[in-house]
This record gives sequence, structure tokens and C-alpha cells, in this order.
Amino acid sequence: MHIDILVAQPEHTIYAQPICDLIEESAKARGTGIAKREASYVEEKILTGKAVIALVDGEIAGFSYIETWSHGNYVANSGLIVNPKFRRLGLARKIKKAVFELSRKKYPEARIFGITTSLPVMKINSDLGYKPVTFSELTQDDAFWNGCKTCPNHDILMRNDRKMCLCTAMMAKSAKEAEKTSPQPLSEGEGL
Ligand SMILES: CC(C)(COP(=O)(O)OP(=O)(O)OC[C@H]1O[C@@H](n2cnc3c(N)ncnc32)[C@H](O)[C@@H]1OP(=O)(O)O)[C@@H](O)C(=O)NCCC(=O)NCCS
Repeated sequence: MHIDILVAQPEHTIYAQPICDLIEESAKARGTGIAKREASYVEEKILTGKAVIALVDGEIAGFSYIETWSHGNYVANSGLIVNPKFRRLGLARKIKKAVFELSRKKYPEARIFGITTSLPVMKINSDLGYKPVTFSELTQDDAFWNGCKTCPNHDILMRNDRKMCLCTAMMAKSAKEAEKTSPQPLSEGEGL
């Protein structure tokens, strides 16, 4: 089995529709939580270098992409999907790590956040350094919250003035913040 985890390239736009089909089928199977995506939107993410794709022996195995909000102050890693044929092999973990690193490289000033009902995603996010936050900490950009309109739980979000819903929000520091707060090595002669 040959696995490639790559920043998606223009030749990968052929996978845009199959990616949307996987997202839609998984949303139906789970009965909750994943916003619907159009192929043209996925294509645009691929063409602008904002997506990570996983291929197994040339077959589409997984995908995730970057969205920017509030004039680039916030970045979300969205649309995570792993083909059911290739689940429980650690692909989501690898894709999330790759899209997280790509986000920090492209947007070093931006905090990275996600909202999810998925236990695997919560586990992976925690390991990447995300912390749970309330929705008030997230971007208030209407365009982000409009993405929730195709979720079956949208009425719950709106009933709560966008302050809470079934998803858990998680946020990670920007690359700049992480750099400032990472422990500096002790210099010679310094002790505890
Ligand atoms: C959620 C999803 C992306 C996980 O993909 P995956 O490649 O199977 O996940 P991984 O193999 O990388 O597993 C990551 C961790 O989650 C755990 N995990 C994976 N699926 C799980 C499940 N169904 N139940 C409980 N734990 C699970 C794994 O054991 C692993 O934990 P560990 O490293 O501590 O052992 C995949 O199931 C999927 O595409 N689901 C539908 C779409 C979706 O829910 N997207 C997220 C929207 S926010």
C-alpha cells in the first residue's frame, strides 16, 4: 500500500467531486455535523495551495483544507474526510498534522480553530496543541457561521445566538504565539 500525503496540486482537481461525494455520504451516515461542500469550492482550495490530499495507490483516501476568517486573523482547518476504505490507519492524524503545519507556514499570525463533534478529531486536535474554547473565542465572521447552514443542527446554533451548539470548539496558538511561549533552552550556568 503506497500512501502519499501532499499539499494538493492542480492535477488533483479531478478528485474534487469524489471528495464532495465522500463528505456527503459520511454526513448522511453519521446523521450530523458536516457542512456540505460544492466541487467548485474544493477545486478553488486545491488551486490556491490551501488543501492537503491523501492518496493510497493513486486512489482518493482523504482531504482537508484551510479557510481564513476575520481578515486572516483566524484560520480553520475544515472539511476533513477519510475514505471509509482507509479509516483507522492513522490517515486523519497525518492529514491534520500536514494541514496544521501548512496553515502555520502560510498564516504565521493566525490562530487555528475548528468545531467538531468527532472524537477522533478532538483527540488529534489535542495532540496538536489545540485547547477547548467557547464559541465567543472564535471568529465572528458571518461567512464562517454561514457554513453551518447546511448542518442538520443549524436550528440549535441559531436558537442559542451562535453561542453554543453540538460541536466543541477548539483553538491552537498562532505560529508567532507558539514561538514566543515555547520554553527557551537554559543557557550555560543557569539552573533550576
Ligand atoms: C473522523 C475521521 C476523519 C477519522 O479518520 P481516520 O483516518 O480513521 O482516523 P485515524 O486513523 O487517524 O485515527 C485518529 C485517532 O482517532 C481514533 N479513532 C478513529 N476513528 C475512531 C472512531 N470511530 N471511534 C473512536 N476513535 C476513533 C483512532 O484510534 C486514533 O486515536 P489514537 O491515535 O489515539 O489511537 C474519519 O472517520 C471520517 O472521515 N469520518 C467522517 C467525516 C468526519 O467526521 N470528519 C470530521 C468532521 S469535523
